[in-house]
Amino acid sequence: MLVSSTKHNLLSRKSSLKFLIYDRTGWIGGLLGKLCEKQGIPFVYGKGRLEQCSQLLADFQTVKPTHVFNADSVIGKPNVDWCETHKTDTIRTNVVGTLTLADVEDILREFDNVCTLRGWMPTSSDLSRPGNFIAKITKHEKAIDIPNRMTLVDELLPISTKMAKRNLRGIWNFTNPGVVSANEILQMYKAYIDPTFN
Ligand SMILES: NC(=O)c1ccc[n+]([C@@H]2O[C@H](COP(=O)([O-])OP(=O)(O)OC[C@H]3O[C@@H](n4cnc5c(N)ncnc54)[C@H](OP(=O)(O)O)[C@@H]3O)[C@@H](O)[C@H]2O)c1
Repeated sequence: MLVSSTKHNLLSRKSSLKFLIYDRTGWIGGLLGKLCEKQGIPFVYGKGRLEQCSQLLADFQTVKPTHVFNADSVIGKPNVDWCETHKTDTIRTNVVGTLTLADVEDILREFDNVCTLRGWMPTSSDLSRPGNFIAKITKHEKAIDIPNRMTLVDELLPISTKMAKRNLRGIWNFTNPGVVSANEILQMYKAYIDPTFN
């Protein structure tokens, strides 16, 4: 998330907010848009591809955002291991693209404008999303059963808009307290969602 550095954009009243969100077609960006609608926050989805500086500039000039949320990235299909074998594509979007977006917002000069929310094993109540950790482990033949931190999207994503309103910056581990293992989740899945699951 980038916070615009110009003074008049630092006003935190809802009426002065305008979010520019990158991730129109993705899972997290879609949820963020719905959240903004619910909270009455004006927002626009970015049209530019992350590595295309001129397209990003056009977005910024048209939208004039107070905050920029970036959830665009290559996450790998069917899973993140894809990134290991497609390093060029991954670096182009996740590294060069992210830095280009940051550059457009003058972040290279004012690095403290950035708020990075580090999601981990994102999990939500929408089991139809392939990125949802529950959807992933219920479809895989094997799951690594090591207790891990989780990002419960339904709980944490609403906090991201509150953080934007407060112009918080820095790097945040955007996870819930405690850890849970894949087996524990699968046991809950069987108990609450699908008793026939094996
Ligand atoms: N889902 C997970 O398991 C997981 C885990 C940890 C962290 N995260 C992070 O959470 C964030 C959101 O992930 P998500 O689950 O919402 O992913 P997602 O549903 O796959 O959405 C990612 C979006 O990025 C877009 N994209 C890819 N390359 C692009 C580029 N060069 N320029 C512009 N857009 C591009 C894709 O659009 P196109 O299809 O049009 O390319 C897609 O809409 C990402 O930063 C991801 O790294 C996700």
